[in-house]
Amino acid sequence: MTGLPLLTVSGVRHAYGPRTVLAGVDLALSPGEIYALLGPNGAGKTTLIKTICGRIRPEAGSVRLQGQDPARVSAARAGLGLVPQEIALYAHLTVAENLATFASLAQVPRRDVPAAVQRALQLTRTVDRAHVPVRHLSGGYQRRANIAAAIVHQPALLILDEPTVGVDIDAREALDAVIRGLRDLGVAVLLTTHDLEQAGSLADRVGFLRDGALVLEGPPQALIAEAFGSRMEVLVELSSEPDAAGEALLTAAGLSRTAHRARLWTCLEADGYAAAGRLDKQLRKAGLCSREIRVREPSLHNLFSLVAERTLAA
Ligand SMILES: Nc1ncnc2c1ncn2[C@@H]1O[C@H](COP(=O)(O)OP(=O)(O)O)[C@@H](O)[C@H]1O
Ligand SMILES: [Mg+2]
Repeated sequence: MTGLPLLTVSGVRHAYGPRTVLAGVDLALSPGEIYALLGPNGAGKTTLIKTICGRIRPEAGSVRLQGQDPARVSAARAGLGLVPQEIALYAHLTVAENLATFASLAQVPRRDVPAAVQRALQLTRTVDRAHVPVRHLSGGYQRRANIAAAIVHQPALLILDEPTVGVDIDAREALDAVIRGLRDLGVAVLLTTHDLEQAGSLADRVGFLRDGALVLEGPPQALIAEAFGSRMEVLVELSSEPDAAGEALLTAAGLSRTAHRARLWTCLEADGYAAAGRLDKQLRKAGLCSREIRVREPSLHNLFSLVAERTLAA
């Protein structure tokens, strides 16, 4: 983080009809910082992005990008690049042709367009696909070409809405490398994601949007340490899905089912390894077979559960 905020969101409110989605959001982003906006579906992440981009004018509060209001000042909008969730490129044109088109739309002077296109290709590692029509690219390359289109005019702020939806692990790592590269050049990056692994490894800061406000914000490791101290997560993977009696037993042992998999149960324990041994014995005795028991440091998943369950004071 360096210097003054590049983006300042203060007390932003927005409602769709009677439904308040943003109820006073405050957010500041500095150059060279990656910020991951987290929150369940429908939390208002995309609405906040639209407000930052000036596509929605907030009912109250303000957005300032380099001191200007993107909803009113078109020069302020030139300072940001938006990568929408869906690929927004001309499928029949090559990557380079797309970038030249986006550069012109973003009013890059004609003589500067070739250099701008080259730069965007390099930064997104798509040089080797420059002359391939977008519709022939793999999903991962399409994502990176989508980013290239958003940075061709050299914005100070890059916003990505759910960049990893439908992206496999290799493509995701390439995407993360591109985002880090831009951050290292001083670009501020704001992204929304469901992918807590990505947020934890990529973001300098994360923020949880809940009930229209950012309820918890900070560097992921610091937030995790603050919430869990030295407790460890014990993960029990059962060899088969438990029946009702098995579930009752697991719950009584202090475990809770993870959101994504019925066979994977989790708890947080001060004495992680000893607790894992204890649980193993206890479950065996009850005839519940575990395929694997793992002990690991708590992650953003654990924090996210706390925030979603409202067991964490905000
Ligand atoms: N144009 C719209 N009109 C009415 N309601 C909307 C509109 N866009 C989004 N919403 C509602 O506002 C809430 C927040 O949506 P959104 O910002 O897309 O959330 P997220 O991106 O976090 O999933 C949702 O309940 C959604 O249904
Ligand atoms: Mg969204």
